Amino acid sequence: MVGIDIEKINRFEHWTDEGYTRIFTKNEILYAKSFENYLERFCGFFCVKEAFVKALDDDTIMYKEIEVLHTDTGKPYINRNEYIDSILKEKHKNTIDISISHCKDYAVAIVVIE
Ligand SMILES: CC(C)(COP(=O)(O)OP(=O)(O)OC[C@H]1O[C@@H](n2cnc3c(N)ncnc32)[C@H](O)[C@@H]1OP(=O)(O)O)[C@@H](O)C(=O)NCCC(=O)NCCS
Repeated sequence: MVGIDIEKINRFEHWTDEGYTRIFTKNEILYAKSFENYLERFCGFFCVKEAFVKALDDDTIMYKEIEVLHTDTGKPYINRNEYIDSILKEKHKNTIDISISHCKDYAVAIVVIE
């Protein structure tokens, strides 16, 4: 199962901290805010969440439960919490792979569930 999403960075320009905390986890906010270009980072995470919904063809997914973390080398991955594990079990899938890219104007992400 595969999903992809692209978003304009400026979509997030006027978001308040309250807006961020509705969609993003504490770890995601800490990570994004550690960069000067934090809007690109938020936009990339948002793309992962939307691509995840597309991969599963399920619009009931709770965005805040889809948490993007990073390995020591910076590679992003989805945190395997109880919610994600329950979805994978229900769909008879085992692995989730993601990739993110962003520039000044756009971010894009792809999610592959196998
Ligand atoms: C990882 C790398 C390829 C990212 O490419 P980039 O064009 O700078 O940036 P992009 O916007 O396309 O990608 C950024 C995203 O890549 C992802 N990423 C970072 N390190 C990664 C890694 N080791 N593996 C997979 N994905 C990685 C992250 O998701 C990051 O976004 P995020 O931190 O907001 O989540 C690049 O920074 C890098 O480390 N290259 C190493 C090789 C190199 O530098 N060679 C020198 C050639 S002259």
